[in-house]
Amino acid sequence: MERVFPDGFMWGTAISSFQAEMGLGEPSDGTDWWAWVHDEANVTAGRVSGDTPLDGPGFWERYDQDLTLASEGLRNNSIRLAVDWGRVFPEPTTVVEVDVKRDRRGNVWRVALEEEDLDNLDRLSDGDAVDRYREMLESAHGHGLTPMLTLYHWPIPLWLHDPIACRDDIASTDKRGWVSQSTIVEFAKLTAYLAHRLGDLVDLYCTVNEPRIISEHGYLTRRGEFPPGLNDPSLFLTCLKHTCIAHGVAYEQVKHWDRREASPLGPSTVGLVAVLQHYEPADPGSPDDAWMSRFIDYAFNEWNLNAVFHGDYDMNLDQVVEPMEQLPHQVKGCDYLGVNYYARWRVRHRKTGVDPLLDYEFAPCSGDCSDYGWDVYPEGLRNVLTWAYRRYRRPIYVTENGVADKEDRMRTRYLRSHLRELHKAITVDGVPVRGYYYWTLMDNFEWSDGYEISFGLYGVDRETKKRTPTKAVPVYREIAEKNRLK
Ligand code: BGC
Repeated sequence: MERVFPDGFMWGTAISSFQAEMGLGEPSDGTDWWAWVHDEANVTAGRVSGDTPLDGPGFWERYDQDLTLASEGLRNNSIRLAVDWGRVFPEPTTVVEVDVKRDRRGNVWRVALEEEDLDNLDRLSDGDAVDRYREMLESAHGHGLTPMLTLYHWPIPLWLHDPIACRDDIASTDKRGWVSQSTIVEFAKLTAYLAHRLGDLVDLYCTVNEPRIISEHGYLTRRGEFPPGLNDPSLFLTCLKHTCIAHGVAYEQVKHWDRREASPLGPSTVGLVAVLQHYEPADPGSPDDAWMSRFIDYAFNEWNLNAVFHGDYDMNLDQVVEPMEQLPHQVKGCDYLGVNYYARWRVRHRKTGVDPLLDYEFAPCSGDCSDYGWDVYPEGLRNVLTWAYRRYRRPIYVTENGVADKEDRMRTRYLRSHLRELHKAITVDGVPVRGYYYWTLMDNFEWSDGYEISFGLYGVDRETKKRTPTKAVPVYREIAEKNRLK
């Protein structure tokens, strides 16, 4: 059976700056993530692996060759890449004073920038870094790849977030990253500036990559693997809330500052990227597991979308949005939804009586397990796509989907099975999916787990940086080239 995808479907891979750029030269050493993975206490405690991004694939220098792989090796017509905030603004942008309006509850609501503010931001920016991003984007266009640009894929400049001070005593510092609303204001400046400087080359934007993952791994998990490694449900919710507000603020900036078309899509299509996973009770016969699975689905999948699309900020997670929790003025728009889907998680209620956000665990994978121990479940992709479309009614891009598979034993199967489900979502369920981005183009720095984990379609030799295609490369090439799956 041949499965044909809609005309104009975007086929791509996704990469991110901190994970892919370093490895050959100029490090980006001014961010919280840089400090986090180099901190000895974090390595000793097992929060991070001890690997550093300095052994990465070196996209900062090799971008043109890698984009050649994306276009000629994979016959893709798009690429999702990210900008590193710390490279663009190594110096604090706080000195550029802008007009900030707050709502009655004190939340940042509107940030107004003038042309003059952009000139001031330009003087503060690292012009070489901005030029390099322009060259990357020009190279993408030159290779026939429509760029999708992620404005925030996790590292925050150290001048806004000191993750070690926050880890040790958050009250001791005012550099508190997403827990502080000043980060939203500075993010507004970053996104205005990027839309202004790169908008002639970009039409498709992602604002925040995965509010839930940064909130959960930074403020909730026992291992504490993401900066600042805290274990506090209220900070988890604060981070989730602020990154959702940040989406709206960024949405307004991009719409305002980018009016130029770089492609037939133009001038700016702006969306949030949410990670949506398939959750189910570990023991289907257990009412406790069933309740917890539903709760986790609500907190992790639904909450950030209810905030962005409806202005519902259910801060006590009781699944009732009281008048005080309704912030409809924070709904600024979301032209499409980016969905990152990886796996199925079977949820168990630990029943220790603590806050439910600390009282769940995921059962170990027992089915088709990736190197990460994630449970491969292609049907889950169709489920989340159909659910998200029926509820929020936006076009969707699958902005990430992939598998950790060092030995190259399951990548091809993973790709094909997920695309089969994606195709059903389009043709059977009527979900308007506009594109698919495999995670990831080449092996990269997998955050706290370093290089043990290999998601790349191309393997990378850490010494020579040589790229080697996995078995999935010819398969993905044929699918993208023909716009169909056999
Ligand atoms: C992130 C990527 C990450 C991938 C695999 C996603 O949550 O956006 O940066 O590498 O998952 O863990």
